[in-house]
Amino acid sequence: MMLETPWSPRQREYRRFVRAVALFQRRLNSVKEQTPRDFEWYPYDSLGSWCRLDKMFGGRCRRVLARLASEPLLDIGCADGELAFFLESLGHHVHVMDWPPTNYNGMRGVAALKATLGSAVEIHQVDLDSQFRLPVPRCGLVLLLGVLYHLKNPFFVLEKLAQHCRYCIFSTTATRFSAGGQTDLQDLPVAYLLDDNELNSDATNYCVFSEAGLGRLLKKTNWEVLEYAAWGDTRASVPDSARRELRVFRATQEHQVQRSRRRRGIDRRLAPNTARYACDGFWYHE
Ligand SMILES: C[S@@+](CC[C@H](N)C(=O)[O-])C[C@H]1O[C@@H](n2cnc3c(N)ncnc32)[C@H](O)[C@@H]1O
Repeated sequence: MMLETPWSPRQREYRRFVRAVALFQRRLNSVKEQTPRDFEWYPYDSLGSWCRLDKMFGGRCRRVLARLASEPLLDIGCADGELAFFLESLGHHVHVMDWPPTNYNGMRGVAALKATLGSAVEIHQVDLDSQFRLPVPRCGLVLLLGVLYHLKNPFFVLEKLAQHCRYCIFSTTATRFSAGGQTDLQDLPVAYLLDDNELNSDATNYCVFSEAGLGRLLKKTNWEVLEYAAWGDTRASVPDSARRELRVFRATQEHQVQRSRRRRGIDRRLAPNTARYACDGFWYHE
């Protein structure tokens, strides 16, 4: 007789979370079916990425959120806002930012979902390539998922976010080699500048960083890496092929906040540039 392996509390918690996400996705799908429209919905799985991210970080996305219940959240480059509406369903106050000319359906998707769901998510039309302002003076957590390579000025954007947001979770495409695979960029702090339509036939893709480049970018814009995961084609990725891509997720925190906490004797186990962090110390001040 086969004995079933019991689920650990963490696994059970994760399964509950995935079930909640799946239920919400089902609700979104039925809302979408009922919504009269003359546009196409954003075709990618925003909520699925959130589950994968949370799993990779051992449930820390959920733990971050639980500590930020009273602070506004910001989803930048929200597409149809599915993740924002999910976070709202957990009780968070969420703002979303995107820009109609780059958005898959001119932001009609996010507006339609908001209306049909009767949601209080606040929608802002903001061009990240301009000298923009954030809609809130302070926010607990900003999500920047799949946006970095669309930016003309990633330094400006990340620095701006570091001034106003305590935590950031982001994902982006990174590359090991230059286009064509001639030059190994792995240890070079660089970004490959994409030509028009060089990646995914999308002229709004501007640059793909090497992992070292990404690290340098975050350091120079005052972010400190707390969690890091790279997956996909880490050995042979090139910037101009979605099939040989390297995805990078980082959970980051404003450098200043962390430094002041260390000064106060909290969080001694956390060293700058560490790729892992001690969870208890990390959340101490909340
Ligand atoms: C690849 S999608 C990611 C969507 C969503 N975050 C996700 O993970 O499923 C990139 C998003 O960034 C937005 N974006 C690109 N350039 C932008 C800009 N200059 N200003 C504001 N949003 C921009 C696009 O409109 C799009 O919704």
